[in-house]
Amino acid sequence: MADPDLAVPGTEKNRRDGPPVAIAARYVAADPEILGCPVKRRAAVVLSLLAANRDPAAFEDLHAFRIRGGRRDHVLFGGGIHA
Ligand code: HEM
Repeated sequence: MADPDLAVPGTEKNRRDGPPVAIAARYVAADPEILGCPVKRRAAVVLSLLAANRDPAAFEDLHAFRIRGGRRDHVLFGGGIHA
């Protein structure tokens, strides 16, 4: 490998672009609105990890394969202790 320092950022970028798990699920704890949509307490919601990993509000230049600089974080492992 020409530049071993790129191994970790390159791996994180690949994980964000192609996560093996697409969704996580939660039960709603309160009565909020999600994106303007009323949601009942205790309703089950499915969260798209694919969409979160490609959130244009969080990541610039979504479709570029750029491993130098930029954010490296992602929600490949969802949330909680596993993440
Ligand atoms: C690349 C490998 C893996 C990926 C991408 C992955 C991804 C995920 C995701 C997205 C969740 C849901 C998290 C959430 O609800 O927010 C999850 C949950 C979980 N995973 Fe994995 N996982 C991987 C490997 C493993 C391995 C190797 C183990 C065990 C040896 C494991 C054990 C678990 C357990 C126990 C949960 C439930 C955790 C909880 O409810 O807090 N996972 N995983």
